[in-house]
Amino acid sequence: MAVRKILNDKNTILRKKCREVEQIDDRILTLLDDMKETLLSAQGAGLAAPQVGILRRIAVIDLGDGEILELINPKIVKAEGEQESCEGCLSVPGIRGTLIRPEKVVVQAFDREGNLMEYTGEEFLATVFSHEIDHLDGILFIDKVTEFEYD
Ligand code: CO
Repeated sequence: MAVRKILNDKNTILRKKCREVEQIDDRILTLLDDMKETLLSAQGAGLAAPQVGILRRIAVIDLGDGEILELINPKIVKAEGEQESCEGCLSVPGIRGTLIRPEKVVVQAFDREGNLMEYTGEEFLATVFSHEIDHLDGILFIDKVTEFEYD
């Protein structure tokens, strides 16, 4: 496993739409392992593959209880309600901002064994799911912010 370099928002890779994973091969498994290590090292809530320069629909999310969720080809299949969310991003250092996110999302994604899983996220977890899946479409939280805060 290796910690990968996290790209910042000046890099145009972060603005591209990621392709779906068609086959979960050794390269994808190594990428997942490296993304988990990179996320832990950076102490973030989540990390999406384009943030380490890979245009694939993959994200990892720290559930905070020692478990890191691996999402392959994640999709929001249901979104409900609204919440005001205060966010930052490992690729946009020094900036936080407030934006509106769904209060609850249901996400379907494949795990590393290729099983289709379903997860429900509410409040903070709904925000993290939405934030990471936005990354896969080249969208950064700063695109949606209504009020910025600078460190
Ligand atoms: Co981010």
